[in-house]
Amino acid sequence: MNITYYGHSCFGVEIKGKHIVFDPFISPNGLAKNINLSTVKADYILISHGHEDHIADAVVLAKRTGAAVICTYEIYVWLSKKGIENIIAMNIGGKAKLDFGNVKCVNAVHSSSMPDGTYGGNPMGFVVESDEGNFYYAGDTALTYDMKLIGEYRKINFAFLPIGDKFTMGAENAIIASDFIDCNDIIGMHYDTFEPIKINHSEAKDKFERSGINLTLMKIGETITK
Ligand code: NI
Ligand code: MN
Repeated sequence: MNITYYGHSCFGVEIKGKHIVFDPFISPNGLAKNINLSTVKADYILISHGHEDHIADAVVLAKRTGAAVICTYEIYVWLSKKGIENIIAMNIGGKAKLDFGNVKCVNAVHSSSMPDGTYGGNPMGFVVESDEGNFYYAGDTALTYDMKLIGEYRKINFAFLPIGDKFTMGAENAIIASDFIDCNDIIGMHYDTFEPIKINHSEAKDKFERSGINLTLMKIGETITK
C-alpha cells in the first residue's frame, strides 16, 4: 500500500486502488502549503474526532470527491447539516466491511467537539485490516492500556501514532504504545504544526531506536510504500 503525508495527522493511504484519507487538515496548515487540496484523491475519508485540526477540509474534500466519510454518529449529524450525504456513521467497537478491507473503530483518550462547539461524540482511532496488511491509526490520544487489546486483536504491521505531546501523548508514551500494540514500525503524526507541539526530530527518532522501534517522520508531500 502507498502512504502519502499531507501534514499534521492527515495521510492518504492507497489500498487496492482505493484512496483513504485520514483527518483532512491541509488548507489551514502553513506547513502543507505545497499540497493542493483540489488534487487530493479520496474514496473514503476517516475522521477520528471533531477538532478543527482533523476536520477542517472534510466538507470540501467530501463534496468534490463524493468519498464516503467514516465518523461518529455525532459528526455524521454535523456533516449532514453541511450537505454531506455519503457517510458511514460508526462508534467505538464497530467494524465496517468495505471494498478495500475492514475499518474497526477503537478507543482514543482525548476530547471531541466540532469547530462550532457542537458535541462531537467520543474521539476514536481506527484499525484497518486488508489483504495488503493491517495498520492502526491512533488519532489524537493519550497512552491507554486499551491499546493492548489492539495488539491482541490483530497483527499490526505499522501504526500512525501522535508524538507531539501537549494535546496527545509524546514520544516516550508512544514508545510504550508501540509495545502495547506489539508493533515496531511507527509513523509519527501530530507534531510541528503548532508552536506547542514542535519536536526535535533526531531526539525522537533516537528514543524510539533505543527501544528497537523504527520511527518514520515523513516529509509533507512524500509517498512511501509498505
Ligand atoms: Ni484533538
Ligand atoms: Mn489534534
